[in-house]
Amino acid sequence: MRTLLIAGNWKMNPISTETAVALAEGIKTGLGTATDVHVALCPPFVYLSRIDQALEGSPVGLGAQDMFWEAAGAFTGEISGAMLVDVGCTHVILGHSERRHGLGETSAEVNKKLVAAIEAKLIPIVCVGETKEERLAEQTEAVVLEQLSGSLAGLSAEQMAGTVLAYEPVWAIGTGLTATREQAQAVHAFIRGWLAQTFGEATAARVVVQYGGSVKPDNAQELLACPDIDGALVGGASLKASDFLGIIKAGQEVTALGKP
Ligand code: 13P
Repeated sequence: MRTLLIAGNWKMNPISTETAVALAEGIKTGLGTATDVHVALCPPFVYLSRIDQALEGSPVGLGAQDMFWEAAGAFTGEISGAMLVDVGCTHVILGHSERRHGLGETSAEVNKKLVAAIEAKLIPIVCVGETKEERLAEQTEAVVLEQLSGSLAGLSAEQMAGTVLAYEPVWAIGTGLTATREQAQAVHAFIRGWLAQTFGEATAARVVVQYGGSVKPDNAQELLACPDIDGALVGGASLKASDFLGIIKAGQEVTALGKP
């Protein structure tokens, strides 16, 4: 069975190393050595080394929020997968909607980053999701399909099994609007169906597909209990240790009860 992955995407927060380290330490202490649910923190690049030190001895993974597809060279401002591994990263978020929509990142670019992340032995978290306009125009499946097929092009079944996906409806990100469990499960089932068609049933059954978009301690349990939702990619609520720990606890409860 798939182990839930609860990841905190801190985005461009907090604004000091001291606050970042305190947040990581609070989460580390609250989680202890529990491994029934996988947990990862994705702080801004500049804090990665310090957070890696803070997390020493803890099962919490460390992720970056982006990376470049080249390994090294004259690419001002970019950071490679090898560099992320060197500072202790285990995960990397790719194709977040704030990069796709805010910064014009394309699925073809996400694909190049994904290939490089796999090469660097990072666990990629590839994000997909529709805007409000696209949902209203009943384009959700078409948009998600384009993002999946473009971003995951050329992967072997084994590489796909090791790649995490995150379904994040853009209209639910940072808005307090969460997809209902029915809305989220429907898209997750669509994604799982596409994975089965493309990579085979056995591979599809192994891929962790997170939900993201205004996940909070009070809605986490009902979302995480859905059969095709295998974790959460959490923004705002990951910036407060007690809230993030509340989401992890919901994941632990769902796991203890056994997923359908
Ligand atoms: P919020 O949890 O703040 O809605 O952000 C979700 C997100 O974008 C995680 O990557």
